Amino acid sequence: MLGTDIIKLLRKERDLKVIKATHEELDITLEDEVSDFISRHTPDIIINCAAYTNVDKCETEREKAFKVNALGPKYIASAAKECGARIIHVSTDFVFDGNSDRPYLEEDQTNPLSEYARTKLEGERYIQDYCDSFLIVRTSWLFGHHGTNFVEKMLELAGHKKELSIVTDETGSPTYTADLAEALWVLIKKGCEGIFHVSNEGCCSRYEWAKYIFETQGYNIKVNPIKSSQYKRPAIVPLNSTLNCQKLTTSTGIRMRPWEDALKEYLENKND
Ligand SMILES: NC(=O)c1ccc[n+]([C@@H]2O[C@H](COP(=O)([O-])OP(=O)(O)OC[C@H]3O[C@@H](n4cnc5c(N)ncnc54)[C@H](OP(=O)(O)O)[C@@H]3O)[C@@H](O)[C@H]2O)c1
Repeated sequence: MLGTDIIKLLRKERDLKVIKATHEELDITLEDEVSDFISRHTPDIIINCAAYTNVDKCETEREKAFKVNALGPKYIASAAKECGARIIHVSTDFVFDGNSDRPYLEEDQTNPLSEYARTKLEGERYIQDYCDSFLIVRTSWLFGHHGTNFVEKMLELAGHKKELSIVTDETGSPTYTADLAEALWVLIKKGCEGIFHVSNEGCCSRYEWAKYIFETQGYNIKVNPIKSSQYKRPAIVPLNSTLNCQKLTTSTGIRMRPWEDALKEYLENKND
């Protein structure tokens, strides 16, 4: 989702040569191939959007999760250092345990609860260990036009269900990948370094998010509120993973728009 939107955005920049590396073109778990690809192209900037993002499957496919989310970033970081490229890496709100009663700051204590989150945090650490200068952007609850996401799942279910049960005690900030891509590009242009939190403004529960999707799309579907303890899934996820994005605003002047506005635009553009 995010990679495609970033490519689309960067290709509008006339003075920029953009090299796309899909999974087919480059497997980031193969150290020699990563090194060859990067030394062949000698980029100034590398943006890593690749990840194994199926949070539940990471619980059973632990080796794959570690390879893609931790070793991949390590190989990219090492090759970036070799050729002097700046590295931009995307990470997740799930590095936190969700027990905070306020939105998370960049320097807050991490405490990942799942295999996905643990491997993503290891990826962050490799980036920091290998590169003197790096940008790590943690984001949350992504939706975008080029992949599966919560919005699409809800719309698909609404097409054939009359009633759904959705959790009320898992809170976060839905974030449109097109908005995230723009913010990332501004952070890069301004030469920002370190860890930044970037998500659309505001937060909601999964239940509120689903209700909002159904209401704006005119679906008359009954949504039952349930607790996450009633919804059994393989991975443990943080209950409140809302990110504080003040550092982004202070450093760049960007204020992310509310998630509701971003979602409306996403839904309007869905069939373009
Ligand atoms: N989705 C969310 O809600 C969310 C929330 C917070 C943070 N994030 C982070 O944001 C970033 C972008 O997420 P996204 O949702 O846009 O991801 P996505 O749609 O799942 O895309 C991930 C991409 O990585 C590729 N990939 C997987 N294994 C690879 C490998 N070994 N080598 C090269 N490419 C590989 C996938 O290709 P295949 O499909 O062919 O495997 C896919 O194209 C990730 O770092 C993710 O952890 C996501």
